[in-house]
Amino acid sequence: MRYSIDLTYKTPKEWADHAIKDFDSFLIDHADCERKASATALGFVAKCPDKVEIIPELIDTAIEELEHFQQVYALMEKRGLQLPKKMEKNPYIRQLMDACRSTPDERLMDRMLITSIIEMRGMERFKLIADTIEDKELSDFYRDIWTSEAKHATLFVRLAFNYWDEEAIYKRLEELNNIEGDICRKLEWRSAVH
Ligand SMILES: [Fe+2]
Ligand SMILES: [Fe+2]
Repeated sequence: MRYSIDLTYKTPKEWADHAIKDFDSFLIDHADCERKASATALGFVAKCPDKVEIIPELIDTAIEELEHFQQVYALMEKRGLQLPKKMEKNPYIRQLMDACRSTPDERLMDRMLITSIIEMRGMERFKLIADTIEDKELSDFYRDIWTSEAKHATLFVRLAFNYWDEEAIYKRLEELNNIEGDICRKLEWRSAVH
């Protein structure tokens, strides 16, 4: 069984130069991504209380993501930054959610696979930030973050295997992966994770 994901769009190194031009904005967006990642894991728990096989790992993941949020927020505090009252809608996430199918079962599968793809993309981009940013402390921080996201990138695909068969998962994963690659290719670069 293979749980890893081969992204279909490779983010160029120049993306990181662009992203950290306004590092304060990047950090605020990153904090929001971590908070949402924690909420997503808990969202699965709320939506599927009967899927008892996966709930402990979902709770663990929610805690880890909340710790990431805490760490990024601490960096924000150090720089005197505040979270905005309302974050701009994330165009990357919105387009991915639009790609989800509509029956409850298909939707759940798509949400789980998309969560893995988002984690994989986060891992790719945090690694680029770690390799690019000159500040040693921040570079170390992003290296730690990307190793942690790497674990999440395979987690949700693995959890999906409890409920759907291999052929259905790989087929849909390939489709969603292609969609995600197209979204990334077309999105304008911002000082943000996506
Ligand atoms: Fe995270
Ligand atoms: Fe994560």
